[in-house]
Amino acid sequence: MRGKLDQMVSSALNSGSAVPAFTCYDFTTALAVVGAAEEAGLGVILLVAPKTASTPNGLRLIAALRGLADHASIPVSVQLDHASDLKVILESVTAGADAVLADGSSLPYEDNIALVREIRAALDTQGATDVVIEAELGGLAGDEDKAFGAEGSAHDAGTSVAGLTNPAQVADFVERTGAQLLAVAVGNVHGKYKGEPNIRWDVLQEVAAQTEVPLVLHGASGIPADQLAKAPSMNVGKVNFNTELRTGILSTLEAETAAHRADGENLQGLLARWNGSAATFAGATLELLSA
Ligand code: 13P
Repeated sequence: MRGKLDQMVSSALNSGSAVPAFTCYDFTTALAVVGAAEEAGLGVILLVAPKTASTPNGLRLIAALRGLADHASIPVSVQLDHASDLKVILESVTAGADAVLADGSSLPYEDNIALVREIRAALDTQGATDVVIEAELGGLAGDEDKAFGAEGSAHDAGTSVAGLTNPAQVADFVERTGAQLLAVAVGNVHGKYKGEPNIRWDVLQEVAAQTEVPLVLHGASGIPADQLAKAPSMNVGKVNFNTELRTGILSTLEAETAAHRADGENLQGLLARWNGSAATFAGATLELLSA
């Protein structure tokens, strides 16, 4: 069924849990994620990368995810991730996205606020008042679609363009943007971590003290499970995964392709292995984040 992202996250936090969000570049992965969530009886978020959404096929994928979400037995939200291009945002929402990360995190503070407000106003004008907006304060290192290894910035909580989220800006940012969720930069990175992740839980706690709005932790791949499990206690109600899901799928395809070629070019069987890999990861993550 269609889940409203802010409500899913608030109700998870009320029971000491967080909702995982998984990047889906394709329908096979999305089927696996939703299947795992149905198996667990828990809601889930399907993320669409902006590079996917900015193509005609990407918009068709969003429409397909919309159908998948609406017919699932558990709440599912379809979110356009890390978007700043108004055209892509409006097209994605028309195609079926019900939430957007309005990402002005690479901009100076005031420009970030202006972008989020502009996106909200454009959605409202289009009649999409129900679309949930997440905004991001502080900058994450790394690439959203490719994992090369990045260092999280553990210092400089005073800067506004990149680096750690500045707790002193949080209340003002949330109030002026009207963001319904807030993505934070606390040493988390997109892709692989160079060395051990150094998540600044102290900064996260300071940020959480400044706002009632649920927090979002991006770049969760590579953060140890015991650390992720404590995220809901710091008002982190949504946790984003991409790289680990890709790693598992690609390893499975590497290991299984030859045998499936030999088995009469058995693509159906190979897709079942793909589904199995993604469903196992999604299922374990759903369990980890649920109280
Ligand atoms: P990872 O690729 O590091 O898991 O990050 C995913 C993410 O934050 C998507 O928004």
